[in-house]
Amino acid sequence: MVNILSVVFPLYIYPASCSSSAAAPACAWYPFFQSITANPSVIFNIIVNPNSGPGDFYTYPNDDWKSVLSYANNLNNTNLLGYVDSNPTNIPVSVYKPQVQTYKNWANFTGRDIHVDGIFVDDMAYSASSKPYYTSFANNIKSVWSSLPSRPSPYIMMNPGQPIECSFYSNVDSIVSFEDYYSNLSKASFIKSPYTNCPRYKQAIIIHDFNSTALDQQQICDDMGQTFRVGNLFITSAIQDDASQQNPYDEVPPLLQQFSGSVKATNSWILAHPQWYADI
Ligand SMILES: *[C@@H]1O[C@H](CO)[C@@H](O)[C@H](O)[C@H]1NC(C)=O
Ligand SMILES: *[C@@H]1O[C@H](CO)[C@@H](O)[C@H](O)[C@H]1NC(C)=O
Ligand SMILES: *[C@@H]1O[C@H](CO)[C@@H](O)[C@H](O)[C@H]1NC(C)=O
Ligand SMILES: *[C@@H]1O[C@H](CO)[C@@H](O)[C@H](O)[C@H]1NC(C)=O
Repeated sequence: MVNILSVVFPLYIYPASCSSSAAAPACAWYPFFQSITANPSVIFNIIVNPNSGPGDFYTYPNDDWKSVLSYANNLNNTNLLGYVDSNPTNIPVSVYKPQVQTYKNWANFTGRDIHVDGIFVDDMAYSASSKPYYTSFANNIKSVWSSLPSRPSPYIMMNPGQPIECSFYSNVDSIVSFEDYYSNLSKASFIKSPYTNCPRYKQAIIIHDFNSTALDQQQICDDMGQTFRVGNLFITSAIQDDASQQNPYDEVPPLLQQFSGSVKATNSWILAHPQWYADI
């Protein structure tokens, strides 16, 4: 088995007009599903975020959500991760655990398969002193998932948006070690020592404000997959502007289809030359 690149979609878009069909062009998630079904060999980790969390506790999401969740679950190349905020160590277990439990309970719905596969913890603090908080956070997610009726182990991704010391990786499946403007990519610290020694395959890279061509986008996919050997990637030209509260994850990236095709092409090259790409 050779490590290949997966896609992470921070899909913070309400699935408007999806209730009758997630596969219809009217559905707000249709372009993302086009990417997913056009590239069946690529794994897409989709972050779902009804309301900076699951929405009302201990309920099921509405029909728009049920439609996209069940559509994604019927594909063999998706994982769904429920969004939970940690507001750098300020959210107590009494607040995040009911959210985690609510996501897990979606597996109980009997009409359709709307389960989620894990949890995305946003706003992770990266100082060493926050390690006990995040160890406990991950352990709480695992304990919710293993309580009856138990589910397969949860996929846990945490997002400090920049490198953290390697010991943080042991308790989770993925860490976002870069979430930043494209213009900062070439000087990103995750590609420098000592962070290059952290498990590469557990690193996720999220690039916004990408302002170049599809060809350059392919080059980034190749660099991330073949040179840096990271596990998850997302690239969007959408703009972050904190002053006007502009969030880069609430629109469809114009080069989305090219991006997903580029990840597939990167992986095809790796899989055709496994001798050059030892697992790290
Ligand atoms: C999903 O199934 C298709 C068709 O059998 C296969 O080509 C593809 O590789 C599978 N994808 C994954 C991620 O297993
Ligand atoms: C989920 O369903 C099981 C029965 O299949 C039940 O035991 C459990 O209490 C339910 N969990 C929740 C939190 O709804
Ligand atoms: C990243 O890019 C933004 C916008 O170009 C800039 O304001 C910021 O200072 C950069 N950050 C670093 C660490 O270079
Ligand atoms: C992209 O943005 C960078 C930094 O703002 C700028 O230097 C560069 O010229 C832009 N590239 C294109 C192709 O517009």
